[in-house]
Amino acid sequence: MGPAQIDRRTAGRALLLLFSLWFLISLSHASRLSPSMQNLEVQKHLRRLNKPPLKTIQSPDGDIIDCVHISNQPAFDHPFLKDHKIQTRPTYHPEGLFDENKVSEKPKELSNPINQLWHANGRCPENTIPVRRTKEDDVLRASSVKRYGKKRHRTIPQPRSADPDLINQSGHQHAIAYVEGDKFYGAKATINVWEPKIQQPNEFSLSQLWILGGSFGQDLNSIEAGWQVSPDLYGDNNTRLFTYWTSDAYQATGCYNLLCSGFIQVSSDIAMGASISPVSGFRNSQYDISILIWKDPNEGHWWMQFGNDYVLGYWPSFLFSYLADSASMIEWGGEVVNSEADGLHTLTQMGSGHFPEEGFGKASYFRNIQVVDSSNNLKAPKGIGTFTEQSNCYDVQTGSNGDWGHYFYYGGPGRNQNCP
Ligand SMILES: *[C@@H]1O[C@H](CO)[C@@H](O)[C@H](O)[C@H]1NC(C)=O
Ligand SMILES: *[C@@H]1O[C@H](CO)[C@@H](O)[C@H](O)[C@H]1NC(C)=O
Repeated sequence: MGPAQIDRRTAGRALLLLFSLWFLISLSHASRLSPSMQNLEVQKHLRRLNKPPLKTIQSPDGDIIDCVHISNQPAFDHPFLKDHKIQTRPTYHPEGLFDENKVSEKPKELSNPINQLWHANGRCPENTIPVRRTKEDDVLRASSVKRYGKKRHRTIPQPRSADPDLINQSGHQHAIAYVEGDKFYGAKATINVWEPKIQQPNEFSLSQLWILGGSFGQDLNSIEAGWQVSPDLYGDNNTRLFTYWTSDAYQATGCYNLLCSGFIQVSSDIAMGASISPVSGFRNSQYDISILIWKDPNEGHWWMQFGNDYVLGYWPSFLFSYLADSASMIEWGGEVVNSEADGLHTLTQMGSGHFPEEGFGKASYFRNIQVVDSSNNLKAPKGIGTFTEQSNCYDVQTGSNGDWGHYFYYGGPGRNQNCP
């Protein structure tokens, strides 16, 4: 090795060192975004989420609903969906394809139709989908632009967790019914709608069904839908229709509603994340919503229907690994976040805020819970289990009868005498 070579190597090392220093310095600057940089990032994110509308509807609750052309929806930002041909309807429906003569399954006491609040001020035209406009404040409430619309922690209730402490640590509490140990191709439920009180803006209360695939590891697949009250996500205490999906246990993929590309919406009637109205009152009128999620056996996509009339759209099969085949577990029930730092349990309510034993008109319920089995038909679930972390705070009680099929009451007030 001659001296010239040594010189060149030394010079190379010095350059590398300088470059590394420069890189480290710029990195430390980048992680502390200046206010104007952050603002630029927020504006860019808003432009990505809020597509140019063909019509705009002002909802009484302060929401702005944009009617966006169906082929311009957020889903098509996904690289795999660039050339995707929208399926305007499923090729298969577990109750038969849209039988107009189907008798309504609503019991007499529930004759009032449930609606979305923004319908009071207009509807979206054909070939558009209603999208709840994301405001700057919505994004600024999130811990970062990247986290906006995503869950903070793994929040799946795991009835037979090897490590139950893990469930408790995250502060998430559940009261659920579930089935497992089979291949499932969908699930259905009619969910009582309430407006539970939330003690702190960073807590939420939701009632939903979970379609789960895989083990509870890093690659858990989940499709979720129901109603939620989440001041952090929406900026108010309204009860809202929501969906969620992930294919990696809430890490990089998935989001609420249409806040990332993935779900393809076809309905011009129902807006994800929009307020549901009216909600049930204690010892007063009761309202409920039906949600059906099923896998199209021909195309493989997971479809969602709201009520008897609205097919919302679908999650394309390629978004998932396990769920590209089938689900291994179905869960129905409530979840809240208990984030109180003072050692006391939160006062955030689940369901109606009342315990199951109080029954109809007081406690919240799921009724007619069903699964789609491997023959692609809706069936009563077999071997229903239940799970709660602390039944003195939130509880669940199952039952079955002729009118309601398999049902359960669930929920509770959170902090009380027995749940300090
Ligand atoms: C939501 O409810 C909490 C109390 O439960 C209240 O403190 C808060 O002001 C409400 N937020 C809005 C935006 O109405
Ligand atoms: C969660 O924590 C509570 C209170 O510490 C305890 O009573 C309960 O058994 C725990 N639940 C589980 C599933 O570990």
